[in-house]
Amino acid sequence: MQRMNPSGRWLILTGASSGLGREMAIVLARDHQANLVLVARRQDRLEELATILRERHGTQADVLPADLSVTAEAERVFQTATEAHPVYGAVLNAGVTHFGRYDELSWDGFMNMLNLNVTSQVRLTTLLLPYLEQRGEHGGLLIVSSMTGLTPFAYQTAYSATKSFLVALGCGLCLEMEPRGVSVTTYAPGGIATEMVAGKRFDSLRSWLMPADQCAAEGIDAFVKRRYLQIPGPLNRVGSVLMRMLPQKLVASTFAAQYKRALERDG
Ligand SMILES: NC(=O)c1ccc[n+]([C@@H]2O[C@H](COP(=O)([O-])OP(=O)(O)OC[C@H]3O[C@@H](n4cnc5c(N)ncnc54)[C@H](OP(=O)(O)O)[C@@H]3O)[C@@H](O)[C@H]2O)c1
Repeated sequence: MQRMNPSGRWLILTGASSGLGREMAIVLARDHQANLVLVARRQDRLEELATILRERHGTQADVLPADLSVTAEAERVFQTATEAHPVYGAVLNAGVTHFGRYDELSWDGFMNMLNLNVTSQVRLTTLLLPYLEQRGEHGGLLIVSSMTGLTPFAYQTAYSATKSFLVALGCGLCLEMEPRGVSVTTYAPGGIATEMVAGKRFDSLRSWLMPADQCAAEGIDAFVKRRYLQIPGPLNRVGSVLMRMLPQKLVASTFAAQYKRALERDG
């Protein structure tokens, strides 16, 4: 398949109200002239972003507030977006984390993370793939996972498990869908400077964080080039090679010790 060509076409983008999603919206509009259906819960933020995209970048943008921790809301997003526009692809980016001991995460908190990070991603994916295949325009999906999906990350244990699910989902579907004319790219960033890591607990890990605009540009580049699995930043890529070569327990214990120290220091 050739590169994607989002110019003048419609994409759904979840988690567009802040961080990586907001920056990816700007890259898609500014550099690829894509029209966007912007999805998240905070409508005011989405409206503000939509105005920027229309006025600065001359693209079209719809605002579609939704709580994607509710599966029916993911279904409504698909229905509303595809009824309003012919959709060419989607960036499935919304997600939440929990950084701390596993037993600090309540059952409700865990279910919220599972529903948002996993269930709604699967629901949107399983609705979008047959739709995109049937349209026959060679569209694509970008599934935002994380480097924590590549090996177990203790103290972000449940989050790491959800992101590991997404690596398996995205990479498996990439191979299934490529011959059927739809690309699925999995994006696995390391730390990014966004609201997700704004809390005090992340203070001593801050020097590792990548600027969100840089991470967005690399993610969208991988999306349009229909990459299989993209890890942004040269340091992260070297890290990911070491993660594959060294024994998993050694790698995972090293990260665990670092996270434990950060939690002890920063609360
Ligand atoms: N920051 C990192 O270090 C890092 C590293 C690797 C991967 N990632 C991944 O990157 C993605 C974006 O995260 P970020 O770092 O940009 O964090 P962020 O700034 O906190 O953005 C998270 C986005 O998800 C949306 N969201 C959260 N709960 C939602 C819900 N129930 N329904 C609909 N939308 C919801 C938020 O919007 P509303 O609150 O307005 O709903 C927001 O737009 C996530 O999947 C994350 O796992 C982040």
